[in-house]
Amino acid sequence: MGVGISWSQLAGTVSLEGGLGTISSIGTGYYQNRKFVKHEQFGRLAGTTEFYNRDALFAIFKDARAICGDAPLAANILHAINDYSRVVRDSCEAGANILVTGAGLPMNMPEYAADFPDVALVPIVSSPKALKLIAKRWEQRYKRIPDGVVLEGPLSGGHQGFTYEQCFDPEYQLEKLIAPVVAEAKSIDPNLPVFAAGGIWDHDDIVRAMELGAAGVQMGTRFIGTHECDVPPVYKQLLIDCTADQIELIHSPVGYPARGVHTNLIDLVNTRTGPAIRCVSNCIVPCKRGEEARAVGYCIADRLSDAIESKLDTGLFFAGSNGYRINKLLSVKELITKLVYGENR
Ligand SMILES: Cc1cc2nc3c(=O)[nH]c(=O)nc-3n(C[C@H](O)[C@H](O)[C@H](O)COP(=O)(O)O)c2cc1C
Repeated sequence: MGVGISWSQLAGTVSLEGGLGTISSIGTGYYQNRKFVKHEQFGRLAGTTEFYNRDALFAIFKDARAICGDAPLAANILHAINDYSRVVRDSCEAGANILVTGAGLPMNMPEYAADFPDVALVPIVSSPKALKLIAKRWEQRYKRIPDGVVLEGPLSGGHQGFTYEQCFDPEYQLEKLIAPVVAEAKSIDPNLPVFAAGGIWDHDDIVRAMELGAAGVQMGTRFIGTHECDVPPVYKQLLIDCTADQIELIHSPVGYPARGVHTNLIDLVNTRTGPAIRCVSNCIVPCKRGEEARAVGYCIADRLSDAIESKLDTGLFFAGSNGYRINKLLSVKELITKLVYGENR
């Protein structure tokens, strides 16, 4: 989870406790109060090399490894970012065992990771068609297929692989998508595992997803409610205090609807009275150097990073539709125990 939600503490601890911790490669310049950043402008990280800061990414991996040792760690890299190929490479060099990519179809992912054949490649999809397209292209061009696939349904936090209307359409809900995506995966390779994501909250949800054919699940939101999650206390408290109807879909410069908490920022954006849009960090391709940011009313790099710098008034706080169910903080160990054995453990 980016920016800055799943970094060394959360990912390292999840991997230590037997899950697969995923380090976000997004906005790494903000790690440890911008310690690795050399160039700023208007108080923001100047350019993609600072926003996707290589030294900071290496430090995140090193700090996570200090927690989990040799246990597998993943890196998540949005396909829509500027410098995608460089960040894929950086993540491999920093020590990722698995790369996970969503927000677009990562048709060339194997090319960028070609020097690291032991690194597993896992695309995120929202339909069997997307999986089919990716697998066909990878097989034709690179003679390889995905090592796993994350199927993300429309209750997840952050960006959705659906239109606004589809997010509420019963036909596009996760439980309807698992069987067709698993069938597609099996037709590519009988051993290709599908991990279901989006709205998975507890042990029963995991069992249900696995009964429908998933090999496992990917979870985001519930892990924000852990002591180890890398966000500051303001973020966690916002979720503890929020209600179900405060978690909503908003427009994003990435071009997909995104789910987060309705805060003061959303009111400012809706009345076009939000913070200035300057495109200092040049973060994502589809934004076209601030054009989409101006159309939707905010800069996503600046607003997501404000959230992890405890700026409640101007931060954008992503969360899945279950975010309101966080009512107290647990340790990662306690949470994983509940997920494996049930809530009463
Ligand atoms: C705060 C937040 C930030 C996220 N950031 C990313 C991201 O940078 N890249 C990505 O592929 N998915 C991102 N996601 C999606 C999660 O990785 C995960 O698949 C999804 O949230 C699962 O649904 P859940 O939150 O209901 O468990 C984010 C989710 C949240 C809640």
